[in-house]
Order: sequence, then structure tokens, then C-alpha cells
Amino acid sequence: MKDADIVIGKDILELLSSAMYVDPLTIYREYVQNAADALCDASAQGLPPDPTAPQVRIVIDQGTRTIKIRDTGTGVPARAFASRMTAIGASPKRGTDARGFRGVGRLAGLGYCRELIFRSRTARTEPAMEIRWDCTKLKAALRSADYTGGLARLVTDIVAFDEIRELPGQPDRFFEVEMVGIVRHRNDSLLDEAAVSEYLSQVAPIPFSSDFSFGRTIDDFLDRHTAPGNVEIRVNDGDPLVRPHRNTFEADDGTPDAFTDVECIVIPGTDGGTAAVGWLLHHGYRGAIPNRALVKGLRFRTGNIQVGGHGIAEDLFPEPRFNSWTVGEMHVTDRRILPNGRRDHYEESVHLGNLMNHLTPIGRDIAKRCRGSSVRRKWLREFELHETVAREKLDILAQGTLGDTARKAMVSEVDRAIAPMAKIAAMDDLAPEARTTLKPKVRELQEELDRVAARKPAESPLARLPAEKRRMYEHLFELVYECSTNRVAAKALIDRILLKVL
Ligand SMILES: Nc1ncnc2c1ncn2[C@@H]1O[C@H](COP(=O)(O)OP(=O)(O)OP(=O)(O)O)[C@@H](O)[C@H]1O
Ligand SMILES: [Mg+2]
Repeated sequence: MKDADIVIGKDILELLSSAMYVDPLTIYREYVQNAADALCDASAQGLPPDPTAPQVRIVIDQGTRTIKIRDTGTGVPARAFASRMTAIGASPKRGTDARGFRGVGRLAGLGYCRELIFRSRTARTEPAMEIRWDCTKLKAALRSADYTGGLARLVTDIVAFDEIRELPGQPDRFFEVEMVGIVRHRNDSLLDEAAVSEYLSQVAPIPFSSDFSFGRTIDDFLDRHTAPGNVEIRVNDGDPLVRPHRNTFEADDGTPDAFTDVECIVIPGTDGGTAAVGWLLHHGYRGAIPNRALVKGLRFRTGNIQVGGHGIAEDLFPEPRFNSWTVGEMHVTDRRILPNGRRDHYEESVHLGNLMNHLTPIGRDIAKRCRGSSVRRKWLREFELHETVAREKLDILAQGTLGDTARKAMVSEVDRAIAPMAKIAAMDDLAPEARTTLKPKVRELQEELDRVAARKPAESPLARLPAEKRRMYEHLFELVYECSTNRVAAKALIDRILLKVL
């Protein structure tokens, strides 16, 4: 059999483009990945950065339903342009430090627009080249049963090359993707500037926000182990995008929570090297991190670009729900652990197995923190309940209107409320809270109880009344307290009566 006898059908192109990407937004990841590779390559070659243009500029025009993604990386030389832009597979990046390696990522846009255009030039003095992929024609050919051409025929049928002479406003060196006539897709997220920015803030290789205090520690740690290669990305000429992490967030139950410390992790590879490095942000573990915080889950990155979504590591936790209580990222550094074609997970291998094995104890540790935190919160709630009762009864005692027997009974009731509080404050699990708040509260209540219990009858506000009248009021007030369902309201009522009768 000769090579030429092997048929490669047109349908391959559908598999490599639209069929491969479930979420349309992933096409931004592919183009940003190419831009980041080209920018890193440019800096490795010592090419001067372009001070007049953002490194990556994304323009989304809802009116014309057009998207442009342009970078000032190496560009593609005119002589290599045609073959590089029509090649399917055979990436020149394979075996290098670049993020791409399959040679198909740029086809991601084919299923989402009427026309996909790539333009590039490597210097002002060099020719600028353009290739247009006619996606409408592509779709028709893919659907047609009569189209007999193979893959190569199809590509030549639907692409058109040109050298462009007029390039107003373009930087000297650039690569641009233009998607014309964006197809309406679900919620039209491709043209939604906010949705695109949110997506890229999670996925793209961009810096942390300067408002995020742990950013510096994480960057220093990552710099020691990886080359993060962050790039500047601006959407519709706004501020450069930053990662979504901030110091505080709102837990799922609406209560505010904050990150308290960062834990850096190095996972050894199978043969002495490093498989991955990463970090976890610890917090109050009050519950799941809401989706809107954009940071939930233990996430994975390769080449500082996210692989998969926030649920990729769920299996590492004793209960999958604890993944959503986690904030952290693992940067895979072992080049033998490869993202799969869709970049929604990694290819199975012993190296991936080794990485996952090392992460299991981390999943267990986080689950312990989550469970510990729920138990702690349950005890803290119980402490608060007893505290409320003790405080209300102490206030009644301090009012000094009860007769002797009722007073003694009330003193032992307060005692009985303080006892479980002291027990909770002595729990090992609550050590940090106990030192700062619980124990001082117990002490304070006990001292106050001792003080009011030691008061003499002469200190009562009723002391001035004749004995009989005084007993009558004491009896009346005891009845009010006994019959009322709300101690606070009963006390307020008696306070008002006292003002009248005294
Ligand atoms: N922004 C860019 N700047 C310079 N060259 C680019 C750019 N985008 C694509 N290219 C060139 O086109 C080639 C094909 O890109 P494509 O995204 O299809 O594949 P890849 O990046 O090599 O691998 P992958 O499929 O893993 O993304 C790249 O290898 C690169 O040579
Ligand atoms: Mg690519």
C-alpha cells in the first residue's frame, strides 16, 4: 500500500474544529494560548516588545458580530505563512517549551463564524499575509453527500490567500485572528464582553490583581519552579485583565469570609523531578465557594493556562462537594503529563496517576478542615444560645426585682447556662476562638453573676417601699416573668412599671 492510497476524508476537519469544543468560550483559550506562545517566543528570541500596542488585544464588536484577537509576538514569516496556516496537525511547537503541540488549536473558530481570517507580519519591512477560511462553504461541504474531495481538497476549496498592502493601525509585528459573522450560540457568550473577561480571568496566563495580598507569595513560589509567562490582555481597550482572586469573598451562605494563609505544594515526579507545583488558599471553610467568585475548586494549569474546569479534581476528595470548598491551583510541570485534545482533562498515564496519588492526602486534609469547621460552627452556635440565655437572666437579676426564692432559682439557672459554655470553651477543636473570645466571655459572665448574686436586698429598687407593697410587687413581677414567653420584653415592661411606681 502506498501513502497516496490512504484516504483522509473531509470530516476530519469537523472533528478538529467545532466538534471538539463544547463551550464556545474555549476558542478564546486557544487563540490566547497561541498569542502567549508567540509572545514568549519573541522574548526568547530577544525581539523588542512593542511599546505602542497591548501584548494581546481583543476587540468584540456586537454590532458587526466580529471578534479580533491580535498579539505582538513573533508573527508568522510570509514564506512560511501558507503552509503553517493550512497545516493540520504537525505543529512546529511539539518538543519545545511552547504550550501548543497538536497543530490544530487555531481551527477552533471554524464552527462559530462565517469567515475565519488570520493575518500576520514579522516586521514593518516584511509583507503582511492573510488567509481567509470560508466557514459557510466549509459547513455546506461537510454536510454534502456529493462532496467527494478529501481533506486537502476541502482546505484548498475553502481558503483564500492574499498579501495585504494597507494595514492602518497595525503594529509592526503581529498575528491577528478575525472571526466575522459570529454564529448565534446559546446565550451568545462569544460576544459578551463580561463573560469573555470572566472566562479569561480564570483560564488565561495573566497576573494576579494587585488587590490580592497573597499574589506576591504565590508568584515568588511559582517563579522558583516554573516560567509562568504572564501576558497583558486587554478586552475592548479596557484595563489589562487580572486573575479573579481577592483577599475576601462571600461564602455560599452569604457570610463574608477571607483567605487567611497560603500553602505552597511541590509534588515529586516519578523519577526524582517535579510533577507539579501548586498552592492552596485557606479560609474559614464555612461552605462551598460560590461560582460567582470564579476561584472555586482545585484547578489545574499547564503552561499557566487552565486545563479543564473547576470540577477537574473532584475525585481527589473523600466527598466531591469538598472540592467546591477549596481554592487552589496545581501547575503541572512534568512535560509527560499532557492535556487531552479538548483540554478538558489530562491524558491517562503513570505520571498522571503519580500526581493524583500525591494529591489525595491534600484532598483528605481539606475535607478534614471542612468537617472540622462545620463541627466548630455547630459548637459556636450552641455557645451563643447559652450565652443569650445567661445574659437575659443576668439582666433580670441585675434589675433586682425578684423575691429571695425566685432570685436564688434564677442564680442557679444562670449557673446552669454558663456551665456548658465553659465546657465548649475548653474544647481542643475550638482552641483559637476559645483563647480570644469564648473563655473571656465565660469569665465575664461568671464575674457578673457573682456580683449580682452578692447584692443585698437593700440595693433593690423596691427597697424604699413598705414591706407589704414590696412583696406584692415582687410577686407580681415574678408572675410576669413566669407567664411571659419573651424575657427581654417582660424585663422592658417591668422597667417601665418601675419608672411609674418609684
Ligand atoms: N498568534 C500566533 N503567532 C504566531 N504564530 C502563530 C500564532 N497562532 C498560530 N501560529 C502558528 O500556527 C501554528 C498552528 O497553530 P495551532 O494553534 O493550530 O497549533 P499549535 O499551537 O501548534 O498546537 P495546538 O493545537 O496544541 O494549539 C502554530 O504552531 C504557530 O506556528
Ligand atoms: Mg495553538
